Amino acid sequence: MEKRLQVGVFDSGMGGLSVLAECLRLFPEPIYYYYGDNARAPYGSRPKEEIANFTEEALRAFEGLGVDAAILACNTATAVCAEEMRKKFTFPIVGVEPAIKQAAKQCRRVLVLATPRTAESERLAALVARFPETAFTVFAAERLAAAIEEHLLGKKMLALQEHLPLRANYEGIVLGCTHYSLVKGEIASYFKAPVYDGAEGTAKRLKNLLFVGRSDHAYPAVTTLHFSEKTVIFLGKSRKTNEHVYNTNICFQCFRKKIPKE
Ligand code: DGL
Repeated sequence: MEKRLQVGVFDSGMGGLSVLAECLRLFPEPIYYYYGDNARAPYGSRPKEEIANFTEEALRAFEGLGVDAAILACNTATAVCAEEMRKKFTFPIVGVEPAIKQAAKQCRRVLVLATPRTAESERLAALVARFPETAFTVFAAERLAAAIEEHLLGKKMLALQEHLPLRANYEGIVLGCTHYSLVKGEIASYFKAPVYDGAEGTAKRLKNLLFVGRSDHAYPAVTTLHFSEKTVIFLGKSRKTNEHVYNTNICFQCFRKKIPKE
């Protein structure tokens, strides 16, 4: 029997679960390892070098596990250091892109929500420049990812209006941070406009990259990585070794129930 594919999924915290959910839906064959760096989230306003160092740490952990590919399920890490990481590792690294193209196909006035590092990135500017017929307004949401993380961990209620710009007649909202996808229903209701995220596109890219007609899979699996008490996210079977981990697992279950698939 062929060895099962192994894929590492990385984010600063819980946002990448939105990408992992799509991977499990569209491409359940591999064993997935999820690394959420909750202890150091959010990344969105950190210096670029620090983000690159943290990302490299996660990828080294995946390398140690012998993954076949890794996903940077973090727009910030993708914008800051995807190219640099591709030079350092031999396995393919799939980044997550804001769904600018999908939004541009359907809308002429679009709001892009992103972390400060993603909002200021050349990568985003280059992507937006490819669709001159659509007017994009890019908004750097300083604390939204952190507020979502706190909300999902049951620490604090989420007051979206404190983190979002005023409503205007946007025809679509691009979620340029994977954390935002965890509350995409709420963001869509707030703006009364459809939201676009990059999760499905990322899962499809991974599948195209790795799927070669393999038939050895029996069931999907999500495995967990231990780094420290605070930096672990457990998925799949809950191991109640600490409260933080347990809560996060519950959040993932809620998230999957709450947000219907398009
Ligand atoms: N979820 C990440 C992103 O897509 C990072 C959010 C953060 O840590 O600030 O950008």
